[in-house]
Amino acid sequence: KKKLVIDVDTGIDDAQAIMVALADPNVEILGITCCNGNTPVENVLKNTLRVLKVCNRLDIPVYRGCTEPLLARKVHAGDFHGKDGMGDVPDADAPGLELLQKEKAVQAMIKMINENPGEVSLVATAPLTNLALAVKLEPSLPEKLKALYIMGGNCESRGNSTVCGEFNFVADPEAAYIVLNHYTCPTYIATWEFSCRNCLPWSFCDDWLAQDTDKARFMEKISRYTRKTERYQKELVAGNGFNPCDTFALAAAINDTLVIESEQVAVSVELEGTYTRGMMVLDYLDLLNKKHKAFIMKKIDVEKFKKMLMDALK
Ligand code: BDR
Repeated sequence: KKKLVIDVDTGIDDAQAIMVALADPNVEILGITCCNGNTPVENVLKNTLRVLKVCNRLDIPVYRGCTEPLLARKVHAGDFHGKDGMGDVPDADAPGLELLQKEKAVQAMIKMINENPGEVSLVATAPLTNLALAVKLEPSLPEKLKALYIMGGNCESRGNSTVCGEFNFVADPEAAYIVLNHYTCPTYIATWEFSCRNCLPWSFCDDWLAQDTDKARFMEKISRYTRKTERYQKELVAGNGFNPCDTFALAAAINDTLVIESEQVAVSVELEGTYTRGMMVLDYLDLLNKKHKAFIMKKIDVEKFKKMLMDALK
């Protein structure tokens, strides 16, 4: 089985990604680490447990992670995901936080990776705060990872959070910088532009949500608000269609044949700049002298991706 540790800020699209991982019988989720991001970490924890509950998988350990970015001012994405991060749909039966693990996310992440050297793929769909602290505590961590998959950053300058910044990187630019400069394991990045260019048709989304299952009804409900916003967003901002951005990174981690085109280039993050703080930098000229080059995802096998999404709500 493929062993995964997933770092999330659940979030509608994080929920989608988690459900895709849960649906694959060849995947073992060792644990889910939560981070401040789309919404405060308290909500992230609650949302993650709600997702696990609807999938009948409350046995998966969930860990509380960082409550704020390393240095940046806290920002959330309530306008898009809803104030509670998951569409503001009340849920009287939501599982309580007593189900959380006592251990903190960063320590748990290190432990899970240390106990399975060379076997764990780490998938990050949140600001990279937990990952940055983990590598500072345990510098040899990247050597023990099989691979790292990130949803975040941009490869041109298309922003969704600031003029040219993507949310996960803008929410903690210092953490993104540390991760891109210290994780020397194979690294795959689903950038914002990649996600926008690989959007799925809305008609697919409608069919996906129309499946007659509790999981589909749950997803339909929590994503109602974001779907409305997304449909009216300008194509240049969010792509033309349904954009399950976090799921691209997750799906690439569990299916080695999903990405059919990528580009290998050294990357870093701009930490200053009037407009560019948090923007990912691609060093095509090798001026940064970095040996490690990340894979920037370009194209995926769309039919495979659709099937993974469909199976997630079955
Ligand atoms: C990313 O930011 C968040 O709002 C989403 O969950 C996704 O991880 C997209 O920029």
